[in-house]
Amino acid sequence: MVQYAHTGKESREREIPAPFVSEGKPEQKPDKEQTWEKKFNELDRYISLYAKEPGQLIIILQKAQDIFGYLPEEAQAYIAEKTGTPVSEVNGVVTFYSLFSTEPRGKCALDLCMGTACYIKGAQELMDTLKDQLQIDAGETTADHLFTVNTTRCIGACGLAPILVVNGEVHGNAKSGEIIKIIQKYRKGEDSESKKH
Ligand code: FES
Repeated sequence: MVQYAHTGKESREREIPAPFVSEGKPEQKPDKEQTWEKKFNELDRYISLYAKEPGQLIIILQKAQDIFGYLPEEAQAYIAEKTGTPVSEVNGVVTFYSLFSTEPRGKCALDLCMGTACYIKGAQELMDTLKDQLQIDAGETTADHLFTVNTTRCIGACGLAPILVVNGEVHGNAKSGEIIKIIQKYRKGEDSESKKH
């Protein structure tokens, strides 16, 4: 379980991640910090949209993962603070659901369901295709940070087995040929992006 450091000073501001603590005049911030702050501002919008409704923690965490690409400790602590949920509860949800990641993921996150129905319908063959195409194992990210492969438990769409979730989008009746096309599409997209720069 993730441990969060405490300063011993119990003021509310001390518990908010550093980018949010305003101290005097605004200064010119380094690029990385500005991006980080932008992401927290975006997260704030979703928190104010969903926080008042009960049982919306998972939706907020999903949005946070979309924004950050994963769920860093700072984002978990921020969500806990803003929604009045104990950090341990937020972290418990994050670690329980395999679709959540506490490590940076590739641009294209490929989550393959290995529940019984999906397994019977050929999920292992799909996993072999992923490993063969990307040369990584489940739980790993390619060296170019383009792809991450993970396995999930049953996501409740067994009628469409086997299931592959691509960046949160569910693909039912997934086939090896489709996986190869998805991988090619992302590789092409990355190529044309890098040619622009
Ligand atoms: S076993 Fe894969 S969705 Fe249920």
